[in-house]
Amino acid sequence: MNHLFDEMVDLFRAELQLCNLKPTETMAVLTSGETRADYAKAFLKAASQIGANAYELKLPPANRGMAGSFGITPITDNRVAVECLKKADLVIDLVLLLFSKEQLELQNEGVRILMVVEPFDVIKRMFPKESDKQRVLYATELLKNAKELRFTNQAGTDVQYQLGQYPVLVEYGFADQPGKWDHLPSCFAATSGNDGGVEGIVVMDKGDIFFPFNRYIQDPVSLTIKDGFVTKIEGGFDAMLMREYIESFHDPRAYAISHIGWGLNDRAQWHSLALDNQVFGMDGRAFYGNVLFSLGPNSELGGTNDTPCHLDLPMKNCTLYLDGKLIVKDGDIVIDEMKPVTPEQV
Ligand code: FE2
Repeated sequence: MNHLFDEMVDLFRAELQLCNLKPTETMAVLTSGETRADYAKAFLKAASQIGANAYELKLPPANRGMAGSFGITPITDNRVAVECLKKADLVIDLVLLLFSKEQLELQNEGVRILMVVEPFDVIKRMFPKESDKQRVLYATELLKNAKELRFTNQAGTDVQYQLGQYPVLVEYGFADQPGKWDHLPSCFAATSGNDGGVEGIVVMDKGDIFFPFNRYIQDPVSLTIKDGFVTKIEGGFDAMLMREYIESFHDPRAYAISHIGWGLNDRAQWHSLALDNQVFGMDGRAFYGNVLFSLGPNSELGGTNDTPCHLDLPMKNCTLYLDGKLIVKDGDIVIDEMKPVTPEQV
């Protein structure tokens, strides 16, 4: 076996330990075709080293409608596969079950799910630390207790979210509790505004990120928001792309405001997308001090909007308040409990 594979096994074993995989448990790896076959192999070996049972469930690719659509996965309408995964304690998802009803079904059964789709160098650099969990849980408590979130930026953003209706999405990079879903790597917390409870204007600035286009915004894009929905998208070329993409779904629910939160991964790099456009994009999404603004579904947080059109729009240099209390100032976290833990503090 080559050096890279050994390194992968070592890192995935450390991840499985963070996921609290016990020798008495069973881990499943969900794969499709040959995609990330090296990850599957390395996770199986790592699980064996821990002494856990493990199996790979390999399925044909999903019959996805539109490129970039979420929610249609290789286990959609495959009941035997879903039942098979329910028997596992931990599922390593290499196929992107995100926003599918089957993922929620597995979580409700107490299955822990870890999504792994980023290139190995990104995983390695952004690999979770035990201390990330405490920092993300601190952010989670702040979001849970807040009634209102407001964020601004120099480009003209000023938007308010009424909070309280929806739970908090907690991502610290490992799935260590029954029913917990997480993503390797991540490190942020987010929630959704109450139904109809988002008002204002968001102006994405040059250099902010437009997922799933994996693109830096070239000119400001201005989104007018009323009663929780985008009513106008104005600007230049990027605004046109965004309008056309959303329109192509022919779904009014695609204009809804989705999750909102801020990133806490200090190993994330904003420029990584310029180096590799094929990444899933956790660098931008979990970037320390960003505001992760998004459009589309809220089904992941228990809402009824399950539109397949989902835009994640990480924004840099924003200022964010919860109930008037400053949390992020010009892209920097101002609360000590959420700042990175230095080696001396470990
Ligand atoms: Fe998202």
